Amino acid sequence: MTNTQHFPSELLTAPIADRIAYFENCTIKHAMLEDVSKQTEQALYGHASPKVIMLAGPTGVGKTTLASTLYRRISKQFEEQMNNERDFMPILQVNAIAPTAASFSWKDFYVRILERAREPLIDRKVTAPHQLSLFPDERQNVVSDRAVADTLRRAVELCLLRRRTRYLIIDEAHHILMVNNPKRLEFQFEALKSLAIETKATIVLVGTYRLLDIRDQSGQLVRRSEIIHFPRYDHRKQKEKVGFVQALNTLAGRLPLSEFPDLQANADEFYIRSVGCVGILKDWLSRAYARHLELNNKLFNWDFIQGFAQPVKALETITAEALLGEEKVRDKPIADLMNLLHFGVPPEGEKKPKKRGTVVGKRLPVRDPVGEAYASA
Ligand SMILES: Nc1ncnc2c1ncn2[C@@H]1O[C@H](COP(=O)(O)OP(=O)(O)O)[C@@H](O)[C@H]1O
Ligand SMILES: [Mg+2]
Repeated sequence: MTNTQHFPSELLTAPIADRIAYFENCTIKHAMLEDVSKQTEQALYGHASPKVIMLAGPTGVGKTTLASTLYRRISKQFEEQMNNERDFMPILQVNAIAPTAASFSWKDFYVRILERAREPLIDRKVTAPHQLSLFPDERQNVVSDRAVADTLRRAVELCLLRRRTRYLIIDEAHHILMVNNPKRLEFQFEALKSLAIETKATIVLVGTYRLLDIRDQSGQLVRRSEIIHFPRYDHRKQKEKVGFVQALNTLAGRLPLSEFPDLQANADEFYIRSVGCVGILKDWLSRAYARHLELNNKLFNWDFIQGFAQPVKALETITAEALLGEEKVRDKPIADLMNLLHFGVPPEGEKKPKKRGTVVGKRLPVRDPVGEAYASA
C-alpha cells in the first residue's frame, strides 16, 4: 500500500487558500472508479446504435466527477476536429434541475441543452401558430406549455444533429422522474429514448438509484438501455475493504502537509462515517483540512478530523438509500426466470398474498359489545 505524498512541494509555503483549493480540486484514481470508468467507456464505444446508458449509484460516490472526467476525455479525443470544424460538439453535459412545480420541466431542460450548445436566439424558438394572425382570438393567444416544449424539443433535435453531437450526458437525471402522476414515468423515459433515436446520440443518464425505477416499468425500455452500477465500497467484501483503505491513503497523500498523515490507523472509523463513499470522505477531509490550516492546528489526525464528519442521522439516510439501491441492482436467481417460463409462476415475493380462507358457519373474530351500552340495548 502506498503511503506517499503527491503534491507540488511549493504548496507547503503557499497561501492557505491555495493549499485548500489544491486539495478540493484534486481528483484521485481509485479501484471502484477505474472499474466503473472502464465499464462506461465500453458501453459508450461498444455499440453503433443510439441508446440510453444509466449510471446509477449512491449520493457522494463520485458520479458527477466521473461524468466530468468522461466529458474532458471525449472532448480531448475530438480536439483536432473541433478546432477545424467550429460547429462540431461531440459531447454535451447538462444538469436536469429538480422541478420547482409538481413535475419535471421539459421546457427548462431543453433550454439548458440549447444554452450549452451555444444555440443563438433561444428565446425566439417559440413562435405563435400561424392561425393567430388570421383569427385574433384571445383564447388562442395562449401558447400552451405542451406546444412550447414540442417546439423546443424540435430545436434541440435539430441543434444536436447540426452539431453532430454523439454523446449527451444528463447529470442528476433522477429529477426527470419526478412527476406527479406515476403513469407518466414511462412517458418520461420514452421522451429521452426518442431524443436518442432522432439525434442519433447516446444519452448517458447519471443519477441516484431512483433511476432504476424506470427499468422496472417495461421490458421494452430495458432492451434499449444499459445500466452501469457505481457502488460505494462495501467492507463486507475483502477486496473492496482494501480498495477503500487505498483510496483513503491516496487522499491523505494529496493533503499538502509537511508530514504524511496516518489515517489508515482509523480506516474503519473513516469507512463508517463516509459510508464507503469516496466523495463523502473527500468532502469531509476537505472541511477538516481547511479548519486545520485556519486554526493553525498541530496534528491532522483522527481526533481532530472526526469532528467534521456528517451527522450520523444524515449518514444513516444515505446508507439506507444505498442498501435499497444495491438490492434493486442485484440480479435474481435463474430459477425465478425458469419458473416463470415453464410454469408461469411469478417468483417468490412477487406472489400476491393469499386471502385467508374462512370456514363456512364459523364466526369471524369480532369484539363482542360489552359494558353499559350492551346492557341497555
Ligand atoms: N475520485 C475522486 N477524487 C477526488 N475527489 C472526488 C472523487 N470522486 C468524488 N470526489 C469529490 O467528492 C464530492 C462528491 O462527488 P460527486 O462526484 O459530486 O458525487 P455524486 O455525483 O455521486 O453525488 C465532490 O466534492 C467531488 O469533488
Ligand atoms: Mg452528482
